Amino acid sequence: MSCLYGFWVPPYDGMMDERRCRFLYDLIIRHLPKNGLAVEIGVFKGCSTAWVAAASRRKKARGVVAIDLFTGTPSWGETWDTYPEFMKRLERNAFKDLVRVKRGDSHQIALSWKKEEEIDLLHIDGDHSEEGACRDVTDYVPLLARSGIIVLDDHDALHPGVLKAGQLLGSLGFEELSCVRGDLMKGGGSMAFQRKRVV
Ligand SMILES: C[S@@+](CC[C@H](N)C(=O)[O-])C[C@H]1O[C@@H](n2cnc3c(N)ncnc32)[C@H](O)[C@@H]1O
Repeated sequence: MSCLYGFWVPPYDGMMDERRCRFLYDLIIRHLPKNGLAVEIGVFKGCSTAWVAAASRRKKARGVVAIDLFTGTPSWGETWDTYPEFMKRLERNAFKDLVRVKRGDSHQIALSWKKEEEIDLLHIDGDHSEEGACRDVTDYVPLLARSGIIVLDDHDALHPGVLKAGQLLGSLGFEELSCVRGDLMKGGGSMAFQRKRVV
């Protein structure tokens, strides 16, 4: 149990590391409005979700939505089932009341999203192909609150599809807010974007 964060810090058994999880946590503490909504696309076994949920609980958020196929990324040829482990992690941290799980394809889920359920912070860590990452951006930008934040995980040289999604956000009027710098050889980057303020 982490004294600093007040929850069972999960093992880094997904594709996240501590730096990026803390980055997400701190972004939520700093920017998520009270009663806000945080959404994650790509949760795998729930490592990043635990950090998102812990920060959201501290901010008295109205909820967290966790979106995943739970069967791996088709464009990476993955086939497994991470749903049971994900749910176990939610239970262990008593996050079940806060986190709504949507099992399915992120693009399909966007189609049935209720417009009034504005998203305040969106963490995109799903399909990293250019097509998949850019489509998550175009699908979810219209669902984002005016001052909402989008975080692109793996925004680094090893994931050109994610870099393209970042460029797309730039063309849609977003600017870089803060980041974890990735290593040229090992990756590990993450970038937060916010809409440019109109002055
Ligand atoms: C890089 S992992 C996410 C890692 C996770 N954030 C963590 O903390 O370990 C990518 C996840 O995205 C999911 N995924 C890939 N394409 C998806 C899609 N189109 N819709 C929903 N989930 C998808 C995969 O099932 C996989 O669990």
